[in-house]
Amino acid sequence: MRPRPLTATRGRASREGEPVDIGADDSSRHRCAPSPPQPVTMRAVTAHSVTATLRAMSLERPIVLAIETSCDDTACAIVDGAGRVLASSVSSQLAAHRPYGGVVPEIASREHLANWPAVASAALGPLGLAPADADLVAATRGPGLVGALLVGLSMGKALAYGLGKPFYGVHHLEGHLWSPFLATGGAPAAAPPGRFVALVVSGGHTAIYDVVDGAVTTLAETRDDAVGEVFDKLGKRLGLAYPQGPRVDELAERGDGAREPLPVPRVEGELFFSYSGLKSAAIRRLEALERAGLVVDPTDPPAPVLDLLAAFRAAAVAQLVSRLERLHRSRPFALLAVSGGVAANRLLRREITAWAADRGVDLRLVPLGYSGDNAAMIAFAALLRHRRGEPGDAFTVEAESRIPFG
Ligand code: KG4
Ligand code: ZN
Repeated sequence: MRPRPLTATRGRASREGEPVDIGADDSSRHRCAPSPPQPVTMRAVTAHSVTATLRAMSLERPIVLAIETSCDDTACAIVDGAGRVLASSVSSQLAAHRPYGGVVPEIASREHLANWPAVASAALGPLGLAPADADLVAATRGPGLVGALLVGLSMGKALAYGLGKPFYGVHHLEGHLWSPFLATGGAPAAAPPGRFVALVVSGGHTAIYDVVDGAVTTLAETRDDAVGEVFDKLGKRLGLAYPQGPRVDELAERGDGAREPLPVPRVEGELFFSYSGLKSAAIRRLEALERAGLVVDPTDPPAPVLDLLAAFRAAAVAQLVSRLERLHRSRPFALLAVSGGVAANRLLRREITAWAADRGVDLRLVPLGYSGDNAAMIAFAALLRHRRGEPGDAFTVEAESRIPFG
């Protein structure tokens, strides 16, 4: 069948059974809590539109329709063959999980089911496209909450099966890893080079990868907590609402981290990250402040707490940069792609930009709109696999909570 020519109209874009802790003590990362019956309500859907200029542009095949439901965001995106993000809609479930202090898996699954129709319409509607216009269908297959993943993965498989189109089950980290090459405003994605180094920093992962012709090898990863996880845990100890990372970042902007710095663990030999020591040191310092009589109002923390947050953030970022520096010294690299939710961190963006400029490294920082979980990155990862000649996955591909990567 001859593909129908497509003209863009408008649009752009923007973890079973137990609750997943989103920032409490160390022992309770996967905490059990009763899951009361949930009224399932539709959450706000955000979608962003590209300028009318896109209307006049011809799109390139293949059109990829992607779905991401690995945790608490329901996301759909449409990306064309040039890697243009034509639409990216994300519906956050934060309000539904907030009363429980963590993501409740069953609520996440139900919310994905309830939110999907609105999320899909928000992506397809403004473009004047229907699911049948997709040439490829992609969905996150893991890692994540299996029940949540199953919603998007089953939806994706069913769509692809019904439409007779290839289906790609995408690793969530593969999505993050390529996302720095996505452009905003409906522009085509940059062509990823044959070889580059990727830093992926999120709520579940902190790792450096070597990427050669699409093959990914792990160069360094965290031995304990992920960097985003410690931002969330320290923020939760302070009484901030989930997700605490962005708020800790905001508050740290007002503090002086140099007043009482926190240490950065040194590495000898093998390259690795470690964040549990920093988390414990920051929490101990907070406890000492409280014992000394400091009252901490989370909505307006006092100066010593702002300084502590700034010192915490500075040490967290310095550890990331120190590993990049050590890697670059031992084995220089030309391009660095930085992605994941923590890539939105203000200090990280400033420090990595300065470091890369100093070392002459071509830096690709994920655009802010694609740093958190989204489906555009899943579509792009599938498109790259398609470009490499991969035919897609069998419909037997399963949702998995853990999948090795790199
Ligand atoms: O990639 P992501 O959306 O989901 C995962 O795959 O984990 O990352 C979410 C993580 C959370 O830990 C969140 O607190 C953190 O990214 N995060 C930040 C900032 N924005 C999001 N951490 C520090 N500073 C930020 N500005
Ligand atoms: Zn993620």
